[in-house]
Amino acid sequence: WRFIPLFGLMMLLLTGCGDETISALRPRGPVARDQLFLMKLSFGIMLLVVVVVFVIYLYVLVRFRKKKGDKDIIPKQVEGSHTLEIIWTVVPIILLLILAVPTVKYTFQLLEDHRDNKDALPVKVTAHAFWWQFEYPTLGISTAQDLVIPTGKKIAFELTASDVKHSFWVPSLGGKMDTNPGLTNVYYLQADEIDTFKGKCAELCGASHSLMDFKVKSLDAAAFDQWVADMKTPSTVPADAKAGETLFKDNCLSCHAVNAQGLGAGPNLNGFASRELVAGILPHNEQSLRDWIKDPQSIKPGAKMPAFGENPLEPIPGSKPLQEQQINDIIKYLNTLTVK
Ligand code: CUA
Repeated sequence: WRFIPLFGLMMLLLTGCGDETISALRPRGPVARDQLFLMKLSFGIMLLVVVVVFVIYLYVLVRFRKKKGDKDIIPKQVEGSHTLEIIWTVVPIILLLILAVPTVKYTFQLLEDHRDNKDALPVKVTAHAFWWQFEYPTLGISTAQDLVIPTGKKIAFELTASDVKHSFWVPSLGGKMDTNPGLTNVYYLQADEIDTFKGKCAELCGASHSLMDFKVKSLDAAAFDQWVADMKTPSTVPADAKAGETLFKDNCLSCHAVNAQGLGAGPNLNGFASRELVAGILPHNEQSLRDWIKDPQSIKPGAKMPAFGENPLEPIPGSKPLQEQQINDIIKYLNTLTVK
């Protein structure tokens, strides 16, 4: 009975698994469905083994316990039993075969995906400490943090990293795959429905590993094509955001591109105003943007972006803080970078 508090604690931990947009138990694509089947199968086999072992164990405890009138303390000793030895060798072999057949089948399915990838949309994913860059080489666009994909289409993710090892994980669509500097891993995923999912970095990569989140939006084919076209159409900057645009060019453009294909040391901010999150973790509003621009390291420790506020946690040598009004102007400009 002393284990009851432990069980309670485990149940509490499991309550964290309720978010349907980031759950391997609520698959939203074919790969995640196959993987959930394997999880259920191996869990079922484990449960069967545990139940059988415990039933035999309890039976032996009760059946062979010392009764009134038993004289011998040590019962009759048995040595060697061919029947028992054959049973406990053959039964695990059968159980492992049951597990191995679908596992090998799904593993070769991955190879099949690779051979039959003519229709797949290639998306190059580069993981950086602590953000995600997504390039669409055949469409001529690149973006960051919000990954947009067409629904019902196989996506060929070409996974790599710029600095250290990270891991690309969208639990609703399928298990994780490492992103390694200097190497490209290819992994095929597909979303069944129009939806939004959460993605995470699944490899310990530094101080802000747990904050290295991203979004995946699956759109229908027409909406996806529209998104691509919009990403290629430069946003018009209204007159009252021109001051912010100039400040952005002077302070931010060396790292943050704001065009269809641009890549830089920081995330491409083309279409930024239409993204759901700021820095992958904060709700998209002015306060989040102000906090981030002023002191990124206080939100994501180890982030490489210089702080533009007064008294940041880790001042970058030689940097000159911007005034409150200048930061407000930059925010106003950023919020004009929409995708319709
Ligand atoms: Cu990137 Cu953990």
